[in-house]
Amino acid sequence: MPLVPKHIQDLQPYKAGKPIDELRRELGLERIVKLASNENPLGVSPLAQEAIQKAIADVNRYPSPDGYALRKALADRYDVNMGNVFLGHGSEGIISLIMRTFLLDDEEAVTSAGSFITFDIQAQSRGIKLHRAPLKDYQIDLDAVAGLVNEKTKLVYLANPNNPTGTIFKVHKFLSFIQQIPKHVLVILDEAYFEFARQDPAFPDSMQYRFDNVITLRTFSKAFGLAGVRIGYGFAHENFISNLMKIKLAFEPSSLAICAGVAALDDVEFLEQTIRLNRIGKHFLYQLFDELGLRYLPSHTNFVTIVLDSEKTVNTLYDKLLHKGVIVRPLKAFGLPNCIRISTGLEEENEFFAKILKQIL
Ligand SMILES: Cc1ncc(COP(=O)(O)O)c(C=O)c1O
Repeated sequence: MPLVPKHIQDLQPYKAGKPIDELRRELGLERIVKLASNENPLGVSPLAQEAIQKAIADVNRYPSPDGYALRKALADRYDVNMGNVFLGHGSEGIISLIMRTFLLDDEEAVTSAGSFITFDIQAQSRGIKLHRAPLKDYQIDLDAVAGLVNEKTKLVYLANPNNPTGTIFKVHKFLSFIQQIPKHVLVILDEAYFEFARQDPAFPDSMQYRFDNVITLRTFSKAFGLAGVRIGYGFAHENFISNLMKIKLAFEPSSLAICAGVAALDDVEFLEQTIRLNRIGKHFLYQLFDELGLRYLPSHTNFVTIVLDSEKTVNTLYDKLLHKGVIVRPLKAFGLPNCIRISTGLEEENEFFAKILKQIL
Protein backbone atom coordinates (compact mmCIF):
# COMPACT_ATOMS: atom_id res chain seq x y z
CA MET A 1 0.00 0.00 0.00
CA PRO A 2 1.65 3.33 -1.02
CA LEU A 3 1.98 5.98 1.67
CA VAL A 4 0.68 8.65 -0.71
CA PRO A 5 -2.37 7.69 -2.80
CA LYS A 6 -1.82 7.74 -6.58
CA HIS A 7 -4.38 10.48 -7.20
CA ILE A 8 -2.41 12.75 -4.82
CA GLN A 9 0.97 11.81 -6.30
CA ASP A 10 -0.34 12.66 -9.78
CA LEU A 11 -1.81 15.98 -8.71
CA GLN A 12 -0.35 19.14 -10.29
CA PRO A 13 -0.65 21.88 -7.62
CA TYR A 14 -2.29 25.19 -8.50
CA LYS A 15 0.27 27.61 -9.84
CA ALA A 16 -0.70 31.19 -9.09
CA GLY A 17 0.32 34.25 -11.09
CA LYS A 18 3.96 35.19 -10.43
CA PRO A 19 4.31 37.36 -7.29
CA ILE A 20 5.80 40.84 -7.75
CA ASP A 21 8.51 40.25 -5.09
CA GLU A 22 9.68 37.09 -6.82
CA LEU A 23 10.10 38.85 -10.16
CA ARG A 24 11.89 41.76 -8.49
CA ARG A 25 14.32 39.32 -6.83
CA GLU A 26 14.92 37.50 -10.11
CA LEU A 27 15.32 40.45 -12.46
CA GLY A 28 15.97 43.44 -10.21
CA LEU A 29 13.43 45.53 -12.15
CA GLU A 30 12.33 48.86 -10.79
CA ARG A 31 8.81 49.00 -12.15
CA ILE A 32 6.67 45.90 -12.09
CA VAL A 33 2.99 45.73 -12.98
CA LYS A 34 1.04 42.60 -12.09
CA LEU A 35 -1.97 41.95 -14.29
CA ALA A 36 -2.09 38.23 -13.62
CA SER A 37 -4.46 37.27 -10.81
CA ASN A 38 -7.69 39.24 -11.33
CA GLU A 39 -7.11 41.17 -8.12
CA ASN A 40 -8.55 44.60 -7.40
CA PRO A 41 -6.01 47.17 -8.63
CA LEU A 42 -7.68 49.95 -6.65
CA GLY A 43 -6.63 48.40 -3.35
CA VAL A 44 -8.70 47.39 -0.35
CA SER A 45 -12.15 48.75 0.51
CA PRO A 46 -11.31 51.60 2.96
CA LEU A 47 -14.24 50.65 5.20
CA ALA A 48 -12.92 47.09 5.37
CA GLN A 49 -9.44 48.36 6.21
CA GLU A 50 -10.80 50.41 9.05
CA ALA A 51 -12.82 47.48 10.36
CA ILE A 52 -9.79 45.17 10.27
CA GLN A 53 -7.70 47.72 12.16
CA LYS A 54 -10.32 47.95 14.89
CA ALA A 55 -10.82 44.19 15.08
CA ILE A 56 -7.10 43.46 15.48
CA ALA A 57 -7.34 44.39 19.17
CA ASP A 58 -9.59 41.35 19.72
CA VAL A 59 -7.71 38.63 17.88
CA ASN A 60 -6.81 36.95 21.16
CA ARG A 61 -10.43 35.66 21.06
CA TYR A 62 -11.72 32.94 18.76
CA PRO A 63 -14.15 34.10 16.07
CA SER A 64 -17.85 33.39 16.25
CA PRO A 65 -18.10 29.81 14.94
CA ASP A 66 -21.25 30.57 12.94
CA GLY A 67 -19.90 33.81 11.43
CA TYR A 68 -23.03 35.49 12.72
CA ALA A 69 -22.36 39.14 11.79
CA LEU A 70 -21.50 38.48 8.15
CA ARG A 71 -24.10 35.76 7.59
CA LYS A 72 -26.73 38.11 8.99
CA ALA A 73 -25.53 41.01 6.82
CA LEU A 74 -25.59 38.82 3.69
CA ALA A 75 -29.00 37.35 4.58
CA ASP A 76 -30.42 40.88 4.98
CA ARG A 77 -28.80 42.10 1.79
CA TYR A 78 -30.13 39.24 -0.32
CA ASP A 79 -33.42 38.79 1.52
CA VAL A 80 -32.84 35.16 2.52
CA ASN A 81 -32.62 33.43 5.89
CA MET A 82 -29.33 33.10 7.72
CA GLY A 83 -29.81 29.37 7.33
CA ASN A 84 -29.31 29.83 3.59
CA VAL A 85 -25.94 31.57 3.93
CA PHE A 86 -22.52 30.00 4.31
CA LEU A 87 -19.04 31.53 4.73
CA GLY A 88 -15.68 30.08 3.84
CA HIS A 89 -11.97 30.57 3.42
CA GLY A 90 -12.51 32.19 0.01
CA SER A 91 -14.94 30.60 -2.40
CA GLU A 92 -12.29 27.97 -3.10
CA GLY A 93 -12.53 27.00 0.58
CA ILE A 94 -16.25 26.41 0.11
CA ILE A 95 -15.67 24.34 -3.05
CA SER A 96 -13.29 22.15 -1.08
CA LEU A 97 -15.82 21.76 1.71
CA ILE A 98 -18.63 20.85 -0.69
CA MET A 99 -16.41 18.08 -2.07
CA ARG A 100 -15.74 16.76 1.41
CA THR A 101 -19.34 17.03 2.58
CA PHE A 102 -21.41 15.64 -0.26
CA LEU A 103 -19.32 13.30 -2.39
CA LEU A 104 -18.85 9.60 -1.89
CA ASP A 105 -15.67 8.14 -3.40
CA ASP A 106 -17.39 6.51 -6.37
CA GLU A 107 -19.54 9.50 -7.25
CA GLU A 108 -18.56 11.74 -10.14
CA ALA A 109 -18.49 15.41 -11.09
CA VAL A 110 -18.97 17.30 -14.33
CA THR A 111 -17.64 20.67 -15.44
CA SER A 112 -16.47 22.53 -18.51
CA ALA A 113 -12.97 22.36 -19.94
CA GLY A 114 -11.22 25.74 -20.02
CA SER A 115 -12.62 26.77 -16.66
CA PHE A 116 -11.45 27.49 -13.11
CA ILE A 117 -8.85 24.81 -12.43
CA THR A 118 -9.16 24.93 -8.66
CA PHE A 119 -12.29 22.81 -9.10
CA ASP A 120 -10.35 20.20 -11.10
CA ILE A 121 -7.62 20.15 -8.44
CA GLN A 122 -10.11 19.74 -5.62
CA ALA A 123 -11.87 16.91 -7.46
CA GLN A 124 -8.60 15.14 -8.06
CA SER A 125 -7.49 15.62 -4.47
CA ARG A 126 -10.64 13.73 -3.43
CA GLY A 127 -9.98 11.05 -6.08
CA ILE A 128 -13.29 11.96 -7.75
CA LYS A 129 -13.77 11.20 -11.43
CA LEU A 130 -14.31 14.45 -13.31
CA HIS A 131 -15.85 14.78 -16.79
CA ARG A 132 -15.19 17.98 -18.76
CA ALA A 133 -17.26 19.22 -21.68
CA PRO A 134 -15.18 21.05 -24.31
CA LEU A 135 -15.67 24.78 -24.74
CA LYS A 136 -17.56 25.88 -27.85
CA ASP A 137 -15.89 28.92 -29.39
CA TYR A 138 -14.41 29.76 -25.98
CA GLN A 139 -17.81 29.62 -24.24
CA ILE A 140 -19.14 27.07 -21.79
CA ASP A 141 -21.38 24.69 -23.77
CA LEU A 142 -24.22 23.94 -21.36
CA ASP A 143 -25.79 21.30 -23.63
CA ALA A 144 -22.50 19.42 -23.71
CA VAL A 145 -22.15 19.75 -19.91
CA ALA A 146 -25.69 18.39 -19.41
CA GLY A 147 -24.88 15.57 -21.84
CA LEU A 148 -22.07 14.35 -19.53
CA VAL A 149 -24.33 13.94 -16.50
CA ASN A 150 -24.87 10.24 -15.78
CA GLU A 151 -26.27 8.11 -12.96
CA LYS A 152 -23.02 8.49 -10.97
CA THR A 153 -22.95 12.29 -11.19
CA LYS A 154 -23.32 14.06 -7.86
CA LEU A 155 -21.94 17.50 -8.67
CA VAL A 156 -21.81 19.95 -11.59
CA TYR A 157 -19.52 22.97 -11.35
CA LEU A 158 -20.03 26.04 -13.56
CA ALA A 159 -18.25 29.36 -13.30
CA ASN A 160 -20.41 32.17 -14.63
CA PRO A 161 -18.78 34.42 -15.74
CA ASN A 162 -16.14 31.89 -16.60
CA ASN A 163 -12.50 32.20 -15.65
CA PRO A 164 -10.35 32.31 -17.82
CA THR A 165 -12.53 33.11 -20.86
CA GLY A 166 -14.51 35.94 -19.20
CA THR A 167 -17.66 34.81 -21.02
CA ILE A 168 -21.14 34.22 -19.60
CA PHE A 169 -23.92 31.81 -20.42
CA LYS A 170 -27.21 33.62 -20.74
CA VAL A 171 -30.48 33.38 -18.82
CA HIS A 172 -32.42 31.31 -21.37
CA LYS A 173 -29.53 28.83 -21.75
CA PHE A 174 -29.22 28.45 -17.99
CA LEU A 175 -32.95 27.90 -17.52
CA SER A 176 -33.08 25.19 -20.16
CA PHE A 177 -29.89 23.62 -18.73
CA ILE A 178 -31.24 23.40 -15.19
CA GLN A 179 -34.38 21.62 -16.42
CA GLN A 180 -32.15 18.87 -17.81
CA ILE A 181 -30.30 18.24 -14.54
CA PRO A 182 -31.79 15.70 -12.12
CA LYS A 183 -32.84 17.23 -8.79
CA HIS A 184 -30.43 15.05 -6.77
CA VAL A 185 -27.43 16.50 -8.64
CA LEU A 186 -25.87 19.53 -6.95
CA VAL A 187 -25.05 22.43 -9.23
CA ILE A 188 -22.38 24.88 -8.04
CA LEU A 189 -22.75 28.23 -9.76
CA ASP A 190 -19.52 30.07 -9.06
CA GLU A 191 -20.22 33.78 -9.49
CA ALA A 192 -16.85 35.14 -8.35
CA TYR A 193 -17.16 37.96 -10.92
CA PHE A 194 -20.84 38.66 -10.24
CA GLU A 195 -20.34 42.38 -9.51
CA PHE A 196 -18.77 42.90 -12.95
CA ALA A 197 -21.46 40.97 -14.83
CA ARG A 198 -24.71 41.83 -13.13
CA GLN A 199 -25.38 44.97 -15.21
CA ASP A 200 -25.98 42.78 -18.25
CA PRO A 201 -29.66 41.75 -18.37
CA ALA A 202 -28.66 38.53 -20.14
CA PHE A 203 -26.61 37.45 -17.10
CA PRO A 204 -28.52 34.89 -15.02
CA ASP A 205 -28.05 36.17 -11.46
CA SER A 206 -28.63 32.84 -9.72
CA MET A 207 -30.17 34.56 -6.68
CA GLN A 208 -33.10 35.57 -8.89
CA TYR A 209 -33.61 31.99 -10.06
CA ARG A 210 -33.54 29.89 -6.91
CA PHE A 211 -33.44 26.12 -7.37
CA ASP A 212 -33.09 23.76 -4.44
CA ASN A 213 -30.14 21.91 -5.98
CA VAL A 214 -28.13 25.06 -6.79
CA ILE A 215 -25.34 26.43 -4.59
CA THR A 216 -24.35 29.99 -5.47
CA LEU A 217 -20.79 30.99 -4.65
CA ARG A 218 -19.49 34.54 -4.42
CA THR A 219 -16.38 36.18 -3.07
CA PHE A 220 -14.95 39.32 -1.51
CA SER A 221 -11.66 38.68 -3.32
CA LYS A 222 -12.38 40.54 -6.53
CA ALA A 223 -14.69 43.56 -6.51
CA PHE A 224 -14.19 44.22 -2.78
CA GLY A 225 -10.38 43.97 -2.81
CA LEU A 226 -10.05 41.36 -0.04
CA ALA A 227 -8.22 38.54 -1.85
CA GLY A 228 -5.55 38.29 0.85
CA VAL A 229 -8.08 38.05 3.69
CA ARG A 230 -9.71 34.91 2.23
CA ILE A 231 -13.42 35.37 2.58
CA GLY A 232 -16.06 33.91 0.29
CA TYR A 233 -19.73 33.07 0.73
CA GLY A 234 -22.44 30.90 -0.64
CA PHE A 235 -26.23 30.65 -0.76
CA ALA A 236 -28.11 27.37 -0.83
CA HIS A 237 -30.97 25.33 0.58
CA GLU A 238 -30.72 25.20 4.37
CA ASN A 239 -30.30 21.44 4.29
CA PHE A 240 -27.01 21.87 2.42
CA ILE A 241 -25.87 24.73 4.62
CA SER A 242 -26.55 22.87 7.88
CA ASN A 243 -24.44 19.95 6.66
CA LEU A 244 -21.63 22.21 5.48
CA MET A 245 -21.68 23.80 8.95
CA LYS A 246 -21.00 20.37 10.49
CA ILE A 247 -17.93 19.77 8.37
CA LYS A 248 -16.29 23.19 8.25
CA LEU A 249 -13.34 23.92 10.52
CA ALA A 250 -14.82 25.21 13.76
CA PHE A 251 -13.35 28.72 13.53
CA GLU A 252 -13.33 29.26 9.79
CA PRO A 253 -13.38 32.04 8.59
CA SER A 254 -11.24 34.25 10.81
CA SER A 255 -12.65 37.14 12.83
CA LEU A 256 -10.74 39.63 10.63
CA ALA A 257 -12.28 38.08 7.52
CA ILE A 258 -15.78 38.26 8.99
CA CYS A 259 -15.55 41.91 10.01
CA ALA A 260 -13.82 42.90 6.76
CA GLY A 261 -16.70 41.30 4.84
CA VAL A 262 -19.37 43.12 6.86
CA ALA A 263 -17.67 46.48 6.28
CA ALA A 264 -16.92 45.84 2.58
CA LEU A 265 -20.58 45.02 1.88
CA ASP A 266 -21.47 48.57 2.91
CA ASP A 267 -18.69 50.21 0.95
CA VAL A 268 -20.85 51.22 -1.98
CA GLU A 269 -18.46 53.94 -3.09
CA PHE A 270 -15.47 51.61 -3.34
CA LEU A 271 -17.52 49.07 -5.25
CA GLU A 272 -18.72 51.69 -7.72
CA GLN A 273 -15.18 53.02 -8.22
CA THR A 274 -13.95 49.48 -8.80
CA ILE A 275 -16.59 48.76 -11.42
CA ARG A 276 -16.00 52.10 -13.16
CA LEU A 277 -12.23 51.60 -13.24
CA ASN A 278 -12.68 48.08 -14.58
CA ARG A 279 -15.02 49.26 -17.34
CA ILE A 280 -12.46 51.89 -18.40
CA GLY A 281 -9.66 49.30 -18.22
CA LYS A 282 -11.50 46.76 -20.32
CA HIS A 283 -12.30 49.29 -23.04
CA PHE A 284 -8.69 50.44 -23.03
CA LEU A 285 -7.53 46.84 -23.51
CA TYR A 286 -10.13 46.17 -26.23
CA GLN A 287 -8.93 49.24 -28.14
CA LEU A 288 -5.32 48.27 -27.70
CA PHE A 289 -5.90 44.74 -28.99
CA ASP A 290 -8.00 46.05 -31.91
CA GLU A 291 -5.20 48.42 -32.80
CA LEU A 292 -2.62 45.63 -32.68
CA GLY A 293 -4.84 43.13 -34.52
CA LEU A 294 -4.95 40.72 -31.58
CA ARG A 295 -8.01 38.52 -31.08
CA TYR A 296 -9.61 38.91 -27.64
CA LEU A 297 -12.65 37.48 -25.90
CA PRO A 298 -15.12 40.18 -24.81
CA SER A 299 -15.33 39.85 -21.06
CA HIS A 300 -17.87 40.10 -18.24
CA THR A 301 -15.10 40.10 -15.63
CA ASN A 302 -12.04 42.12 -14.56
CA PHE A 303 -9.74 40.53 -17.13
CA VAL A 304 -9.47 40.07 -20.88
CA THR A 305 -8.14 36.93 -22.55
CA ILE A 306 -6.32 37.13 -25.87
CA VAL A 307 -6.09 34.26 -28.34
CA LEU A 308 -2.73 33.87 -30.11
CA ASP A 309 -1.70 31.50 -32.89
CA SER A 310 0.29 29.01 -30.80
CA GLU A 311 1.68 28.07 -27.41
CA LYS A 312 5.11 29.12 -28.64
CA THR A 313 3.88 32.67 -29.36
CA VAL A 314 2.29 32.74 -25.91
CA ASN A 315 5.51 31.68 -24.18
CA THR A 316 7.64 34.17 -26.11
CA LEU A 317 5.28 37.06 -25.42
CA TYR A 318 4.90 36.08 -21.74
CA ASP A 319 8.70 35.99 -21.28
CA LYS A 320 9.28 39.27 -23.05
CA LEU A 321 6.59 41.00 -20.99
CA LEU A 322 8.06 39.53 -17.81
CA HIS A 323 11.52 40.82 -18.64
CA LYS A 324 10.08 44.30 -19.09
CA GLY A 325 8.21 44.13 -15.78
CA VAL A 326 4.68 43.08 -16.79
CA ILE A 327 3.24 39.92 -15.27
CA VAL A 328 0.31 38.36 -17.16
CA ARG A 329 -1.11 34.84 -17.08
CA PRO A 330 -0.47 32.22 -19.77
CA LEU A 331 -3.35 29.75 -19.79
CA LYS A 332 -1.81 26.38 -20.56
CA ALA A 333 -2.71 25.07 -17.11
CA PHE A 334 -6.33 26.04 -17.80
CA GLY A 335 -6.29 23.97 -21.01
CA LEU A 336 -5.90 27.00 -23.30
CA PRO A 337 -2.22 26.90 -24.31
CA ASN A 338 -2.63 29.54 -27.04
CA CYS A 339 -4.20 32.14 -24.72
CA ILE A 340 -3.00 34.78 -22.27
CA ARG A 341 -5.19 36.41 -19.62
CA ILE A 342 -4.63 40.06 -18.70
CA SER A 343 -6.32 41.50 -15.60
CA THR A 344 -7.37 45.13 -15.77
CA GLY A 345 -5.13 47.46 -13.75
CA LEU A 346 -5.02 51.10 -12.75
CA GLU A 347 -5.07 53.42 -15.76
CA GLU A 348 -1.30 53.99 -15.55
CA GLU A 349 -0.70 50.23 -15.23
CA ASN A 350 -2.78 49.53 -18.34
CA GLU A 351 -0.86 52.25 -20.16
CA PHE A 352 2.48 50.77 -19.08
CA PHE A 353 1.34 47.35 -20.33
CA ALA A 354 0.26 48.93 -23.66
CA LYS A 355 3.59 50.69 -24.08
CA ILE A 356 5.59 47.50 -23.43
CA LEU A 357 3.30 45.35 -25.59
CA LYS A 358 3.67 47.77 -28.51
CA GLN A 359 7.47 47.78 -28.09
CA ILE A 360 7.52 43.98 -28.17
CA LEU A 361 5.19 43.54 -31.10
C1 LIG B 1 -14.20 31.51 -11.01
C2 LIG B 1 -13.47 31.73 -9.74
N1 LIG B 1 -13.94 31.21 -8.61
C3 LIG B 1 -13.31 31.38 -7.44
C4 LIG B 1 -12.14 32.10 -7.37
C5 LIG B 1 -11.42 32.18 -6.06
O1 LIG B 1 -11.99 33.06 -5.26
P1 LIG B 1 -11.58 33.11 -3.70
O2 LIG B 1 -10.46 34.07 -3.61
O3 LIG B 1 -12.83 33.56 -3.06
O4 LIG B 1 -11.21 31.73 -3.28
C6 LIG B 1 -11.60 32.67 -8.50
C7 LIG B 1 -10.34 33.42 -8.41
O5 LIG B 1 -9.63 33.65 -9.31
C8 LIG B 1 -12.28 32.48 -9.72
O6 LIG B 1 -11.79 32.97 -10.85
